[in-house]
Amino acid sequence: MTTASTDLIHNDTIDTLLNRRSIRAFKPEPIDERTVATLETVAQHAASSQFLNDWSAIRITDPALKQKMAEYGHQPYIATAPLLYVFVLDEHPNAAIAKAKGIDTDSDEFTLKTSYRFAQAQNDAVLALHAMETAAFSLGLGCVILGSLLNDVDGLIDSLNLPEYTYPVLGLAIGKPDQEPALKPRMPRSMQFFENAYPSDDEATLEPLAEFDEAVHEYYDLRHADRPVDAFSDQIAKNATADMAGHAMAKPVAAQGFRLDR
Ligand SMILES: Cc1cc2nc3c(=O)[nH]c(=O)nc-3n(C[C@H](O)[C@H](O)[C@H](O)COP(=O)(O)O)c2cc1C
Repeated sequence: MTTASTDLIHNDTIDTLLNRRSIRAFKPEPIDERTVATLETVAQHAASSQFLNDWSAIRITDPALKQKMAEYGHQPYIATAPLLYVFVLDEHPNAAIAKAKGIDTDSDEFTLKTSYRFAQAQNDAVLALHAMETAAFSLGLGCVILGSLLNDVDGLIDSLNLPEYTYPVLGLAIGKPDQEPALKPRMPRSMQFFENAYPSDDEATLEPLAEFDEAVHEYYDLRHADRPVDAFSDQIAKNATADMAGHAMAKPVAAQGFRLDR
């Protein structure tokens, strides 16, 4: 059911995207300055909603801080990433600009702290991160996106000294790959692309699930080489009841000055 890549149009960009996979082991070689400048400039060229430019990224170069990131993420390899970023949704400079223009940022007049702006800034940060990830892959580097840094969001905010109207979104670890994981299977397209409206027949939409479950179960995950990967349905069932108490966002988001009730 998955479209064979031979059915598709190919060029360098498309092939980079079709071959992307998460890399979680890096050679201990530094990334040169020109590459860093290229990746950061590419990220800046991503689209930004209403041109708010409401994201930033912190490059973590201090080994002790990298180690801390690995502890937050419960993933030791994070400390070994030659290039490590934390992308941040960031209305802080825009708030300063607004203030300089005479806007009272503590008042309800100031709306860059509202829920829609928070989501917009998060989208923009993710788009920038993804542009950087794609560029890195196209240069033969490997990457992994790191949601795990948010396991300890208070610690992360504190460690990075994140000010008012900022919030960490995701990490991105980059380096020369020191592993060659298989491509992870993707869902049949019909389960994710619909026409004109959301399908009303769940049973029909989920019809190819058994086949996908099997493909995922056969996937060989280098992280758990001793056992087969759970079928997709089993992964979802586990995730559907995972304890998310430590990930509740209302309090830390409010502490950063955002008003998600507005
Ligand atoms: C938002 C987001 C957060 C992620 N966080 C982590 C993470 O903390 N640790 C990790 O090892 N992989 C992380 N990943 C990678 C996913 O596990 C991976 O993309 C997915 O299993 C598909 O595998 P692939 O990237 O090899 O195709 C994350 C991916 C995304 C999109």
